[in-house]
Amino acid sequence: MCGIFGYVGGKDSVSILIEGLKKLEYRGYDSAGIATISNKKIHLEKSVGKIADLESIVSSKSRISHIGLGHTRWATHGQPSKENAHPHLDCTGSIALVHNGIIENYEELKRALCAKGHVFRSQTDTEVIVHLIEENIRHGLENAVKLALKKLKGSYAIGVLYKNNPDKIIVARKGSPLVIGIGEKENFISSDIPAMVKYSSRIITLEDGDIATVTKSKVKIFSATKTSIKREETLISWDPISAEKSGYAHFMLKEIHEQPKAIIDTIKDIVDPSKKNIKFKHLNLKEKDISNIKRVVLTACGTSWHSALIGEYYLEYYAKIPSEVEYAAEFRYRMPIVDKNTLVIAISQSGETADTLGAIQEAKKHGAKVISICNVFSSSIVRESDGVIYTMAGPEIGVASTKAFTTQVAVLFLLSIFLGRKKNRLSKAKFLSRLSSLFEIPHKVEQVLASEDKIEKIADKYCNANNALYLGRGEGFPAALEGALKLKEISYVHAEGYPAAEMKHGPIALIDENMPVVVLALAGRRYEKILGNIEEVNARGGRVIALATEGDRLITKKAKDVIFLPKTRETLSAILAVIPLQLLAYYIAIKRGCHVDQPRNLAKSVTVE
Ligand code: G6P
Repeated sequence: MCGIFGYVGGKDSVSILIEGLKKLEYRGYDSAGIATISNKKIHLEKSVGKIADLESIVSSKSRISHIGLGHTRWATHGQPSKENAHPHLDCTGSIALVHNGIIENYEELKRALCAKGHVFRSQTDTEVIVHLIEENIRHGLENAVKLALKKLKGSYAIGVLYKNNPDKIIVARKGSPLVIGIGEKENFISSDIPAMVKYSSRIITLEDGDIATVTKSKVKIFSATKTSIKREETLISWDPISAEKSGYAHFMLKEIHEQPKAIIDTIKDIVDPSKKNIKFKHLNLKEKDISNIKRVVLTACGTSWHSALIGEYYLEYYAKIPSEVEYAAEFRYRMPIVDKNTLVIAISQSGETADTLGAIQEAKKHGAKVISICNVFSSSIVRESDGVIYTMAGPEIGVASTKAFTTQVAVLFLLSIFLGRKKNRLSKAKFLSRLSSLFEIPHKVEQVLASEDKIEKIADKYCNANNALYLGRGEGFPAALEGALKLKEISYVHAEGYPAAEMKHGPIALIDENMPVVVLALAGRRYEKILGNIEEVNARGGRVIALATEGDRLITKKAKDVIFLPKTRETLSAILAVIPLQLLAYYIAIKRGCHVDQPRNLAKSVTVE
């Protein structure tokens, strides 16, 4: 949700900014801009569209600068246009500012600033900040920023340049992420870590309320209470190659193929080498806390919410703890009934989703213990939680989440059997057999990936359909929801996921010969029932694409197309089932000419409510 990148050092800032913004493009891609300083002047370049459009504008100009700020935008206030693209300037063109977040009281501030004679050039909420800084610039840049921030309501991560201080960038954050990358006689700022790994592995994550002055040789941080403060440096182990496409056409395809490794890395980070014990390194739950858990609330957004739904099945099945799943945005504003005996599990790939963060804060207010399942080290959600379990998926760049989902499900499985054991609701023998089933999953995911050509052919057949229905039962239902979401997100085909039995209460009215119906008909307790649902679709002329377990001969007679999955434990089949659904969505989107890694209107990290 908007990306900020900044550089100060001895190199050419323009090319570094463009490269940094390209890595952040998944956070927003409707317009972009950079501001640099040279010859004591601010130079501004902006364009509508992708970073490549901006790149072609700046490459035609030969300007040397060693300091600058860049921004890639996901519009909230004001349509995507050159005027609304960041950076924004004050009236005199001396101060440039980039912002990620939303200023809630901007209309009131804008009215007051206009009355004082300030001239606004955009419809954004952001522009008020730069005029507020201008109002106070006579007190010096740092003080002017501090005074401006005091007036703001809402969330922000900002970067500021001032032509009279051509050696420094001022940054600040409240509610939106911002990290500083430490280099040798150069420093960087970025909205998130994946964009930084190429430049620096020494990362300082700013806390809410922090303001920092960044020069090429120094980073000075002031806390909300204005005292100078030292923030810990974290050493990031992600290697820069993992943030590149490595020969794949798209990040999404690369990330789909990375799932066997992502899952095994995640499992190995949690299970000891004997494959017999689970140890969560940062769970921070004492034995007493665990025995006090009477209820679990899982909360998340988007794809992470779908993994939470699977988690609910696991927690009830293996640990026998009453569990429920809440959309983070609903939970946080609903006066939820949670207390010290409730364990809240917040799930997030990015660790920066504003609503999930808000849900954690709300849960803590009511005394609940909060743990998060997260893919990004020391992200806001991690820091706000009492404990964390990391997914080891590596940087996920494709906007449509894939490997984060399957690793989250693996973690939820491990957490559920761990709690089942701790609460004495799962025998040691059952615990060990579940654990060994999970260890087989990465190899089975590889086997599913081997069906890629077949899935591409199925995509060929159905890519012109304008609607699709996804049906599943048990853990297959959240997997169906996830399959439908993938298709919607990247191919703009209207798709709905439904519990298969619910189909007859509405969606069945939509079924005709133009409606592809993807049915998760996996071996297990619900198999017979789902066959019945397939018959109901067939009777109305719908075209069934079935996901079935190898060895199932019956299914080929009932479905137009079948994708077979290796046998596995029923509870784990959702992990396998989601892989072909990711590939199906991917190839349908490609065949429809869609931009898979940057689907319209979406952003990877939704840092606004
Ligand atoms: C956005 C992304 C989704 C993601 C959701 C939650 O909508 O496009 O892919 O599932 O946010 O993000 P999180 O980082 O909290 O998992």
